Amino acid sequence: MEPVKIVVVGSLNVDLVVRTPRVPQDGETIVGKEFSRFFGGKGANQAVAACKQGAHTVMAGRVGDDLFGQDQVRSLAEQGISTEGIIIDKEHPTGIASIILDERGSNRIIVVPGANGAYTPEDVENIRPLIEEADALVVQLETPLDAVARALKVGWELGKLTVLNPAPAAELPAELFRHVSVITPNETEAALLTGVEVSDVDSARQAAEILRGKGVGQVIITLGARGVYGLSSQGEFHIPAHKVEVVDTVAAGDTFTGALAVMLGEGKSLEEAAQYANAAAAIAVTRPGAQPSVPTRAEVLAFLKES
Ligand code: RIB
Repeated sequence: MEPVKIVVVGSLNVDLVVRTPRVPQDGETIVGKEFSRFFGGKGANQAVAACKQGAHTVMAGRVGDDLFGQDQVRSLAEQGISTEGIIIDKEHPTGIASIILDERGSNRIIVVPGANGAYTPEDVENIRPLIEEADALVVQLETPLDAVARALKVGWELGKLTVLNPAPAAELPAELFRHVSVITPNETEAALLTGVEVSDVDSARQAAEILRGKGVGQVIITLGARGVYGLSSQGEFHIPAHKVEVVDTVAAGDTFTGALAVMLGEGKSLEEAAQYANAAAAIAVTRPGAQPSVPTRAEVLAFLKES
């Protein structure tokens, strides 16, 4: 089978991660356990996830003309990701994410967008030929909304599968939903988009029905330890979470979205794709870092066989 072709339009960050026994209080200084630097950014993480599942993957976005940017682009290229859609921005530094990881592997993230914040609708127009060649387009919300909206519109008009991971949580214009084939919010993001407090399968169903009512064909809501809820014209499903030892939850959602896009691009049903993506995300949380935590297709298939 020919590899599925995925274009990811989105953010590229360098993650500066501090592991700490607890989060400091206001005005308090504490001693952390470990400092690490990883390549991250929701867009780049999703591109890595797609590539590691065997997709022909193109990354589009902006990085600064600095060491962080050069290193990130080199790392993506070394993994086999096409970087032709990445602009080197001379005026803004590469985006960074300052991440605090606690003992349970939970994270608190502050993103300073830098060059990601300078990505424009015109940048999207310039990669129209790349989107045209792709099977699926994947976007998130770490780049400006007008560029995200343009990417979805272009992808939709070209008849591509358009996947929106609405993270970080933000309110979205009504028109944007009509250009989305698949949306993958977590509980917080689903709540912001629908006004429904999502805490279990019933509330996820309510939120998913609202999102379908806004024009999104297929809805997946990731529920953390409660698994994944899905709703489409084919019906609904709930997939429980795998029980794993959590080390670091950063990029679990990105792994899920990137893997889901590849499976859907290959023609799997929403439920089959979500089952696969759920396993990929379960593996990711057992490993440190954003991009290094993403499993390969062989690892996901082996995990699914054992579980
Ligand atoms: O989703 C995880 C990502 O969010 C991190 O890699 C960080 O860069 C932030 O963008």
